[in-house]
Amino acid sequence: MDLSARFSLQWARAAIWLWVSLVIFLLNTRGFFSESSYLIGLGNYDITGPAADVNMMGYANTEQVSGGLHFRLRARSFIVAEPQGNRVVFVNLDACMASQIVTIKVLERLKARYGDLYTEKNVAISGIHTHAGPGGYLQYVVYIITSLGFVSQSFDVIVDGIEKSIIQAHENLQPGSIFVNKGELLDAGVIRSPSAYLNNPIAERAKYNYNVDKEMTLLKFVDDQWGPVGSFNWFATHGTSMSRTNSLISGDNKGAAARFMEDWFEQNGVGSSNTNEYSSDEIPRRVSNIISIHDNHHELLELAASFQSPPGQLATKIMSAARRVRGALRQADKPGFVSAFCQSNCGDVSPNVLGAFCIDSGLPCDFNHSTCGGKNELCYGRGPGYPDEFESTCIIGERQMRKAIDLFNNASEKLEGKVDYRHAYVNFSQLEVTLPKQGGGSEVVKTCPAALGFSFAAGTTDGPGAFDFKQGDDKGNPFWRMVGNVLKTPDKAQVDCHDPKPILLDIGEVTQPYDWAPSILPVQILRIGQLIILSVPAEFTTMAGRRLRDAVKSVLISGSNTEFNSNVHVVIAGLTNTYSQYVTTLEEYEVQRYEGASTLYGPNTLSAYIQEFKKLATALLNGQSVELDLQPPNLLDKQISLLTPVVMDTTPAGVNFGDVITDVPHNATYKTGDIVTVVFWSACPRNDLMTEGTFSLVEILDGKDSWVPAYDDDDFCLRFKWARPFKLSARSTATIEWRIPQTAAPGVYRIKSFGASKSLFGSIRHFTGSSSAFVVT
Ligand SMILES: *[C@@H]1O[C@H](CO)[C@@H](O)[C@H](O)[C@H]1NC(C)=O
Ligand SMILES: *[C@@H]1O[C@H](CO)[C@@H](O)[C@H](O)[C@H]1NC(C)=O
Ligand SMILES: *[C@@H]1O[C@H](CO)[C@@H](O)[C@H](O)[C@H]1NC(C)=O
Ligand SMILES: *[C@@H]1O[C@H](CO)[C@@H](O)[C@H](O)[C@H]1NC(C)=O
Repeated sequence: MDLSARFSLQWARAAIWLWVSLVIFLLNTRGFFSESSYLIGLGNYDITGPAADVNMMGYANTEQVSGGLHFRLRARSFIVAEPQGNRVVFVNLDACMASQIVTIKVLERLKARYGDLYTEKNVAISGIHTHAGPGGYLQYVVYIITSLGFVSQSFDVIVDGIEKSIIQAHENLQPGSIFVNKGELLDAGVIRSPSAYLNNPIAERAKYNYNVDKEMTLLKFVDDQWGPVGSFNWFATHGTSMSRTNSLISGDNKGAAARFMEDWFEQNGVGSSNTNEYSSDEIPRRVSNIISIHDNHHELLELAASFQSPPGQLATKIMSAARRVRGALRQADKPGFVSAFCQSNCGDVSPNVLGAFCIDSGLPCDFNHSTCGGKNELCYGRGPGYPDEFESTCIIGERQMRKAIDLFNNASEKLEGKVDYRHAYVNFSQLEVTLPKQGGGSEVVKTCPAALGFSFAAGTTDGPGAFDFKQGDDKGNPFWRMVGNVLKTPDKAQVDCHDPKPILLDIGEVTQPYDWAPSILPVQILRIGQLIILSVPAEFTTMAGRRLRDAVKSVLISGSNTEFNSNVHVVIAGLTNTYSQYVTTLEEYEVQRYEGASTLYGPNTLSAYIQEFKKLATALLNGQSVELDLQPPNLLDKQISLLTPVVMDTTPAGVNFGDVITDVPHNATYKTGDIVTVVFWSACPRNDLMTEGTFSLVEILDGKDSWVPAYDDDDFCLRFKWARPFKLSARSTATIEWRIPQTAAPGVYRIKSFGASKSLFGSIRHFTGSSSAFVVT
């Protein structure tokens, strides 16, 4: 071999080596050779409760009763497992909060199905804090007063949906990777109790740029076979974009964000880096592909004229008719993309970012008391879409969605390391808490049996006058009349324990007809590599959350175990596993605004949480177990329900369920931006919740006689409003409103209504109705 040949061979080798390295590098950065150390699985199921007659959970406004639906509620889950080791489950509910009795029931079902695979220790069930979901699914008396007691239909659909969503996640378990990313979202939350926050030490406040947490932490799940399959994120802002007078079921801003992001993903395949392409009224891709074969307006009108409103029909198999729009968009065998927007330390964070104003004068409310001329009922927070609450919900949802997409697209830090968990039930009613004393040494303080302070009755700027059931109120609510007289006057020890909170309702010391408030609370840590999730059964305020996260973090990065070094992401999952209202710092408690008055276990509540979480973190770090000798009570058998069942549904003589009362005008032509309204004879939606189905449907004509679903209950542009002409009437109507999105394809459309009626003898029959066809240009 001559020299030049050898030289070029060397060059060729070097060049090949370089190319191979480059290719490996590129493939690697794209995750091709990812050695997935986890199995991941996601699930998603409908949990929409009764869309009629049931009090909405959150504002505790007796008059806020469901009467229709804006968009459906869902339970979204992920499971992460080490192939031969531990696993954790996280469920995010489009519900106001988790509920102890729901958690107990779900765990029972999981035990029956999977043995000891999923238990209270490694399953977390968290609520997004929407104030627009049906209530009555909690077990303690205080949380079911305004819903006239327990509502088993609300409870059942949530338990079933969580179970199904976990089963899906379990069955989807496949090798995959998880990436974490964090970023600031500045315009989706403001502080609603600034005067309480300002009572925190100045040196502590100086450590932070903002008076609420602006950080969103996101997980991106990438399946080895399918690529990205979902994302979960945690961000603190209240689910109070919808107001205390709204009657349509809604997931509020977080439910909206989840809906939008799932649609964004399905429309863009693997997702687009340009979030600006997204619009919340995006028409599903499949429908936009149909685009008018008939571009001639006259021809469209002629087609429409041949489809006049038929009489309502009875149908046995309604669900197949109410074919879901989104189901049709997905690849048959590929798991659907699951995107969850989880709640965090939102205690004092409002999505009504324009501030709080007096509805009489239009001026800002009093800073310290959020009152207007001394009255709290007049002070309301304003969302960015003010005065349109749907618009506010959409905007705050979109802001969270856009940030999440940005974090999702850029996520590159891979979670690596053990999957682990610790869990304990703690009796918060007289827990001893050891605190460092000023000037050295330590002192032992105690928590107190639960009690609510006077400011609790005043509510917040998101919902003034919430829990309108002051002691001695004997009007209005029959459930309150029944239980209200057992409330006791707190003794001196209890009064002193809660000082400076003046006690309005001594709920921790009443057990008639059953427990009014929880005393046994679950605390839990889930670990996935360098991510730590703190499941708290309450709404922590901003600063309370910061203190808890810092305390846990300092335990994890201390000591001889260097597993976490300094790289650990700690998130708070708020309103998880059960519900016990608020947790403020001691300093905020002293100010006794709504959040302080609703901190149930007295001034040392936060210190008690910090103490118990440090124990869990220490045990996690050192591989020790935590003993479990307490159990929360199961009060299911004791529940009382005063909600009247549906007696029967009727229509006027000669009219069928599903017949149109008010049709679209003959030969109607609409343009995008218009509202199409159709009114149908209907029946009570409690007869069938249409789980994973729809009450309303917009169909588009494909060709000459084939109708294709275009928009359903899950679409922001479609509203289902259900009503009776008077309170105990057996007749009812469904008004369906379609706000034609800018992206709607021109064509021939019609609106359909689905429902189920109950006869006097109790049998349930499904029906459907349709409007006449109309043209959208
Ligand atoms: C409706 O439109 C069709 C097709 O353009 C036309 O033949 C018919 O006369 C119209 N009817 C009315 C009442 O305007
Ligand atoms: C709020 O209360 C604090 C403490 O009492 C007081 O110093 C402050 O001036 C008050 N602020 C307003 C705007 O009223
Ligand atoms: C994500 O990447 C894009 C493009 O590289 C960049 O403009 C954006 O700021 C990044 N976002 C985050 C949160 O890092
Ligand atoms: C919780 O603690 C209180 C006060 O010590 C006690 O009275 C109560 O029985 C305890 N509850 C349970 C379930 O152990």
